[in-house]
Amino acid sequence: MCGIVGCILKDKKAAPILLDCVRRLEYRGYDSVGIATSSSSINIKKDSGKIDEVHEKLQLDELPGKVGIAHVRWATHGLPTRENAHPHTDCDNKIVLVHNGIIENYQELKDQLQEEGHHFRSDTDTEVIAHLVEKQMDGGNDFEEAVRGATQKIKGSYALAIIHADYPDTIIGVRKESPLILGVGDDDYFLASDVPAILEETNRVIYLDDDDIFIIRSDGIIIKDVNGHIKEKNIDVINWGPEMAQKGGYDHFMIKEIHEQPEAVRNTLSELDEIEKTVKNFSKINRLCFVACGTSYHAAMVGKYLFEELVGLPVDLALASEFEFSAGALRPDTLVIFITQSGETADTMKAMELAKGKSETLAIVNVMGSRATREADHVIYTRAGPEIGVAATKTYVSQLTCIYLLAACMARDNAILDELGKVPDYMTTVLEQEDFIKEISPQYRDAQDFFFIGRGFSYPTAMEGALKLKEITYIHGEGYAAGELKHGPLALISEGVPVVAVVPPGKSHDRTMGNVKEVKARGARVIGLGSQMDTNLRSESHDMMGLDDAISELISPLVYVVPLQLLAYYISVERGINPDQPKNLAKCVTVV
Ligand code: F6R
Repeated sequence: MCGIVGCILKDKKAAPILLDCVRRLEYRGYDSVGIATSSSSINIKKDSGKIDEVHEKLQLDELPGKVGIAHVRWATHGLPTRENAHPHTDCDNKIVLVHNGIIENYQELKDQLQEEGHHFRSDTDTEVIAHLVEKQMDGGNDFEEAVRGATQKIKGSYALAIIHADYPDTIIGVRKESPLILGVGDDDYFLASDVPAILEETNRVIYLDDDDIFIIRSDGIIIKDVNGHIKEKNIDVINWGPEMAQKGGYDHFMIKEIHEQPEAVRNTLSELDEIEKTVKNFSKINRLCFVACGTSYHAAMVGKYLFEELVGLPVDLALASEFEFSAGALRPDTLVIFITQSGETADTMKAMELAKGKSETLAIVNVMGSRATREADHVIYTRAGPEIGVAATKTYVSQLTCIYLLAACMARDNAILDELGKVPDYMTTVLEQEDFIKEISPQYRDAQDFFFIGRGFSYPTAMEGALKLKEITYIHGEGYAAGELKHGPLALISEGVPVVAVVPPGKSHDRTMGNVKEVKARGARVIGLGSQMDTNLRSESHDMMGLDDAISELISPLVYVVPLQLLAYYISVERGINPDQPKNLAKCVTVV
């Protein structure tokens, strides 16, 4: 997904800093890069390609000036070409901007502007904004009034940063439904779509609300509301160190983040008091509904099993992108729980809008200050720290930890808290088996299809194992409730097809073992995931990942996912793929 940054620096050139900042946004996935600075004139360098390629060709850091904006683009409107790369400009190349988000009514605006004589150079939706600002200024407005006027014409989501040749000391921007924060250094000012981009420069940030317009000059930042009234905003201090957004000796962020999971769970467990306070608001709740996308949806699936078993409340489950088609039954005694690590996923936010006012809303979020944290009635934070790899790992187990804590508080069940306390150690013993998983991964490098099966609490784990595999290895992977195999998917099992069976000791064990035998009889290559004491599973498995026998079925989703993350990671590396930046995927999906 696109990323934007900008800065006004006191003593240093902006371009080298902007280049460093956009490099830290690479993890979001992108296909083009561009930088514009403002000095005695406007200077722009941009092209399609990876940052290193474009930098080698254009020397992106060799632009004069202490004021600048930069962008990494993930193509939506128009191919990844130089013309479509940001920054975009007005007819006279005086107004220059970068944009994240989508302008929904861009075509009608573009038609009208073209009729009025504006000359467009790209196929993007973004370029209309530059021409709208130009039109407003031609009508006599100053820069700030023109930006406000232009944003009143556009529909959609946007995080915008704009510079102007006649205002060489100024960056003006707006945020609506797309992430954007401001950074405050000693004498330097920043903007970014994501905290890690500027964490090396400052850890003091201002979170913006929708429709806020900001004006950055070398002497400070002014933030105004939609009507032009100045807003007082707090400066928050981020307690992540810059090293948390670096690889720290690991080959990839993903493997570093897999290893950070015991600590992420430990940190999230310390949220118990906050969660207990939040739960006091839910005494009138009779029904729950979990809403999320992707990996977060798998955490929601675990939530359904857990709350039904521990709390005894009926629980609905909805993919956020489907919620608008099934949100009719929302009632005041329902708590809708939105799970989103980024707090910005457009589908999830749209679902939250639908639920607000009809039911109580709770967001479980990793990113402070994100949209979900401002819009939900209640918020619980996961304490995973920054997650840079596109594939969610430590944020997933942190979400699960929050869900278990929430269920334990609502059920007043202390036994589960004792078990949760052991999870970091269980995870550490799994991580000690990393070499074994690395050793077996080459045999699966050329697999065409993979199946993951599990029942009950292991069904979401099977789904998550399959999602991790397809995301970062590009191998087709399907997660199934093991009992469903005989209703169709068994037809797909043939000689040598890998089937990962998630079979912790417990209620589902014997039934899933029956399914393991079924697939083995049809030639499947079984990768067993169960207790290290499970001799039955071991004898049926071609490869067996044995976990601590004390891990109960109820708690197993938190630990059993770890070997599946490792398996996907090592197969990805075997296939020569960069697991941190899988093709076609973005860390934060801000389009519906
Ligand atoms: C998978 C992954 C995605 C996200 C999904 C929701 O590894 O990361 O499936 O889980 O896009 O994102 P959030 O949790 O930010 O709402």
